Amino acid sequence: MHNSSNISPPFSLALVTGASSGIGAAFCRLLASKKIPLLITGRDVDHLNNLASELSKMVQVRGIVADLAQEGGREVLLKQIYLHQPDLVVNSAGFGLYGKALAHETAAQVAIMEVNAIALLELTLESARTLQTAGKKGVIMNISSAADRLVFPSLAVYAASKAFVTQFSRSFDSEMRPHGIAILAACPGVVNTRFRYRASGGKIKANGYWAMTPEFVAEELWRQIESRKQVNVFDWKTCIGIALSRLMPTKWVSKLLMRAIRSF
Ligand SMILES: NC(=O)c1ccc[n+]([C@@H]2O[C@H](COP(=O)([O-])OP(=O)(O)OC[C@H]3O[C@@H](n4cnc5c(N)ncnc54)[C@H](OP(=O)(O)O)[C@@H]3O)[C@@H](O)[C@H]2O)c1
Repeated sequence: MHNSSNISPPFSLALVTGASSGIGAAFCRLLASKKIPLLITGRDVDHLNNLASELSKMVQVRGIVADLAQEGGREVLLKQIYLHQPDLVVNSAGFGLYGKALAHETAAQVAIMEVNAIALLELTLESARTLQTAGKKGVIMNISSAADRLVFPSLAVYAASKAFVTQFSRSFDSEMRPHGIAILAACPGVVNTRFRYRASGGKIKANGYWAMTPEFVAEELWRQIESRKQVNVFDWKTCIGIALSRLMPTKWVSKLLMRAIRSF
């Protein structure tokens, strides 16, 4: 393995889901710059291969294609976890669908839960179990969303899936900290990635000027990992928005959110 630095990296191996795009890809670049070997995963073979060849100049990296909406895809990753025992696991894979809950097939809404919640649950539990059994310390970073705390018509299933991510991570973290294993939840506001393009069925091509860059989010994730902060809501604009939403009646907030999504 290529490692030009004499300082050993803080983790021996990182597994990153959702590495083929957006936040996951930006975080892989940051981890590679810190010489942390990587298992990167997603569905898009070309994006994974391109990222793997870019990062392999800095660090050992292997791409694994897996669809997390499928049990078989999740099993592929679980096998990698049992085999390689990553001490940093980043669950970044996730998606949402804009529109009223009944505007989409039930199967499509269930797929959101499979990727955002079920896959994340399985990977988090089995990574923690594997580390604990091996007597190793580690960090599991779950990418939730600031939407986890909102009544969010037009993004109902997504917001609920992220409420699960944050709440599960918080409780599980309290159980695992005594074993030296931290389960962290990151709750970003709007980030400039392909998320909105996909959520809108390809209608929204641009993001707002207020959106964070994935590189900014990657730096924020790293700071959270270093500090082991259990839950991190960011950036400051998102924090102000959330604080204001708490001062208003829920009905007003959900109307505003629904209007914001319709206006895209
Ligand atoms: N962008 C935002 O405003 C925002 C805000 C808060 C939280 N988040 C969260 O941040 C995380 C990353 O999203 P992003 O913004 O980086 O969006 P993105 O650019 O669309 O990336 C989403 C990633 O999830 C992967 N993914 C989606 N469905 C999958 C499936 N069935 N199986 C395996 N992988 C799958 C995608 O893989 P492929 O491309 O290979 O299909 C891609 O790598 C998500 O959990 C999202 O909910 C995003």
